[in-house]
Amino acid sequence: MIKLLLDFIQFLYTLAPLLMALGVLTLLALLLSGSIKKHATAYYIAMSIPFAMVAIPFVCRLLGVEMFNFNRIPLMGSILRDYIHVGTLGFPLLIIIMYVGALNPKNPYVKKLLGIRKELSILSGFPILAHSLIRVAHNFPNALRFFTDHEGYMAGGRVTNALGAGISNFSFVLGVLMLALFLPLWVTSFDFVRKRMGSVRWKKWQRWSYVLYATLFIHAMGIQVGGMLNPMRRGTPHPTVEVIAAPASAPAVRNADNQGSPQRTERSERNGEGGERGDRRAVQPADNGNRTEAARPAGREGHQQSWGFADINVSPQAKRYIHIASLLLIFGSYLYLRLRKAKQDAAKKQAE
Ligand code: HEM
Repeated sequence: MIKLLLDFIQFLYTLAPLLMALGVLTLLALLLSGSIKKHATAYYIAMSIPFAMVAIPFVCRLLGVEMFNFNRIPLMGSILRDYIHVGTLGFPLLIIIMYVGALNPKNPYVKKLLGIRKELSILSGFPILAHSLIRVAHNFPNALRFFTDHEGYMAGGRVTNALGAGISNFSFVLGVLMLALFLPLWVTSFDFVRKRMGSVRWKKWQRWSYVLYATLFIHAMGIQVGGMLNPMRRGTPHPTVEVIAAPASAPAVRNADNQGSPQRTERSERNGEGGERGDRRAVQPADNGNRTEAARPAGREGHQQSWGFADINVSPQAKRYIHIASLLLIFGSYLYLRLRKAKQDAAKKQAE
């Protein structure tokens, strides 16, 4: 029974990773709110360790000094890759920060989260900065080339749909604007900067966070829609194919340009299986619904196969649609709640 439940949770996680991560992190933030408030520095240090593990070897490599790559440690590698891709940590944290500003502050749960909003902002910054560092170096130059040397880019032979490639590359270039917006907002979350600024100036600055939320939606949606319109053409070398060091046993080469569902390739890497959809392929049912001989787990021959959630094969395309629906749901409901709160606040002010 417990196994079935865990299987189900894992299945939901592969199906809707963003919503699941959002649920788990919200719960954790609520449970740990007291501790986060009390030991904020310890949390910052814990969150900055993976950042250092990504940034230091990366900067050393840029300077020509080859350093040990922590990504090569199997479990550590998957944690760092998740950290860089922000989908399960940085992004849900930003969503929580965004949402608490749109909800009723008198609600006890919202109150708890509002009490640690500043700490959550600071915590979210470490994975976001790691993501930006890697993405600016690996994706930005080529994305810019799409606009500055369009013919040369198209001649690369990887583009199956120019509109899709354009949307993806626009989203990547937009990432740099987001970084420029995010950095001052993040720095001003620290108390010592906030105090120096004074509350009036600080509040004015914080209004830029709405622009960040809007660009975040365009960035995330653009990556998904662009990847959907311009799916990766297999086997052709791509100018932005990057090697995000995977465990030594499974060197993972991932296309960083138009992969729309980061989770898909990540999970294959995470499982050390290298190839696309490595996570599910091993247990995929054959056409007639039964498992193939090759896919049957060792040691279970002759026994009745029990069905599990892992047997459900969901195509990357379906996962992408679910991800897009999640983004629409999250940002659409945020917009509705934020506008409703603005109206209520305005009505209250008028009544006073
Ligand atoms: C403050 C800065 C940034 C934020 C908050 C941010 C946020 C995000 C988020 C939330 C996703 C996941 C989208 C999804 O799952 O649907 C993502 C993906 C992506 N972003 Fe950014 N991003 C930032 C900067 C950048 C920059 C500067 C680039 C450079 C080109 C970039 C390139 C990418 C790429 C290639 C992906 C897809 C692969 C991956 O998940 O890592 N981002 N970004």
